[in-house]
Amino acid sequence: MTVSRRMNNAGMLIAAMLLLYAGESRGYGTGPPEIACSSMRPSHYGASDPFTPSPYTITVSKQKYKAGESIDVTLKGANGEKFKGFFVQARKHNSQSVIPVGTFTEVTSVGSKNLCRQRNGDHAISHSNSNQKSEVVLRWTAPAKSAGDIVFRVTVVMAYDTFWDNQESAVVKEVNSSGAVIG
Ligand SMILES: *[C@@H]1O[C@H](CO)[C@@H](O)[C@H](O)[C@H]1NC(C)=O
Repeated sequence: MTVSRRMNNAGMLIAAMLLLYAGESRGYGTGPPEIACSSMRPSHYGASDPFTPSPYTITVSKQKYKAGESIDVTLKGANGEKFKGFFVQARKHNSQSVIPVGTFTEVTSVGSKNLCRQRNGDHAISHSNSNQKSEVVLRWTAPAKSAGDIVFRVTVVMAYDTFWDNQESAVVKEVNSSGAVIG
């Protein structure tokens, strides 16, 4: 598992390096792989705006889930701020693991793609174009096997040199089929 993840990350890094040239002139228009799967930072380091809080909100449709259930995750500007890019992963809560958990589809139609795919099919999701977006709704589906409590980790790109990375949603707890918290 560790090996495959390393290879995944190495592959992403090479892709990011190759795309850097194109990125200089075309921006991040087609979305990550310029964003690393583990750090969730765009490759244009040093360009984020860490000194102001993110203007974007992450809302989850449920605070609890059962294995195999789906949850909608909504990203939008708290005061109507638009954004060009997004990158979302579910991660195990209270864990050092950087492996994405579960799968995503897009409910809205701003344009998205799956990435950081694991051997078991779990993956992350990002934008696929640089159009201005007011809102995106993503549907996360939990693994069929128990995955424990999770959080959604989000990077939002307002403009090429303005982004907020590793923003977290509220914790979403896993419950068993009788509704008891098991995470
Ligand atoms: C769910 O967890 C509770 C508390 O641990 C337990 O009493 C119950 O039997 C569990 N239900 C199932 C279906 O496993």
